[in-house]
Amino acid sequence: MKHLIDIMEMSVEEIGQLIETANDIIANPAKYAQKCKGKKLATLFFEPSTRTRLSFEAAMYELGGNVLGFSEAQSSSAAKGESVSDTIRTVGAYADIIAMRHPKEGAPMVASRKSIVPIINAGDGGHNHPTQTLTDLLTISREKGGFNDLTIGLCGDLKFGRTVHSLISAMSRYEKVRFVLISPDELKIPEYLKHEVLDKKDLEYMETADLEAAMPQLDILYMTRVQKERFFNEQDYMRLKDSYILTPDKLRNAKQDLSILHPLPRVNEISIAVDDDPRATYFEQVRNGKFIRMALILKLLEVK
Ligand code: NCD
Repeated sequence: MKHLIDIMEMSVEEIGQLIETANDIIANPAKYAQKCKGKKLATLFFEPSTRTRLSFEAAMYELGGNVLGFSEAQSSSAAKGESVSDTIRTVGAYADIIAMRHPKEGAPMVASRKSIVPIINAGDGGHNHPTQTLTDLLTISREKGGFNDLTIGLCGDLKFGRTVHSLISAMSRYEKVRFVLISPDELKIPEYLKHEVLDKKDLEYMETADLEAAMPQLDILYMTRVQKERFFNEQDYMRLKDSYILTPDKLRNAKQDLSILHPLPRVNEISIAVDDDPRATYFEQVRNGKFIRMALILKLLEVK
């Protein structure tokens, strides 16, 4: 049984194949329109979502399959006290594959141990978000033609931002990748990522609070939202929420071929005036999310 809980479960070769499939889907969508006929995807979202859930659902529809599920814990039996394991056993009786988002770190992993159908982690607390990373990788490969020799700036909430954690892990496996980690002191990346990924692999990285000073060297700028729902007190959030606001002015010294990414939703971190800049890639990234999830569903369901 194949699940996707952590992006590191997937080899660089497998990621390359998924990207190849996604590019083929973009070029020849009709070829894929019936591939999942008769199959059902369940989306179990115990936390809010727009892009991840709807792109999974759109992906399954475009493959000719069907979709069922819930979009808030309150409307499921979780509200009555049902365990994740029991919910998963139940849904496995109705669906062929499950995409699950949960506020607790590790919940999709626990679910996968009990599941008779593939489980996809669609975000677990402040931990991981492997399918956003696949989306980011497809976007980077389409923008830059590959992953080697890139300087990638990650800016904002690097502590609680699960997309950041998965993306750093994934990018750490390519050649000559440099990370510039831009955040306030309180929102630096977790120690475990430093020890287990960056230091262990002897990767080049720097930590700074200064976005503008870092700008000229960046090939990719990955902006993130300060993760309000993970804060213990409102005052800290209020103090940190507008730490970085990307404006056209701050892009003055950026490379001409910079790509600006953001997993979205954006709150204040990118001014809407940046949307018209040709380097703004975040809405393209949204589109890519559907195609890479189509490729992932095909892979996990072993559809040829
Ligand atoms: C992200 C998430 O849920 O972690 N959103 C997404 O899936 N595209 C980012 C965020 O919520 O800030």
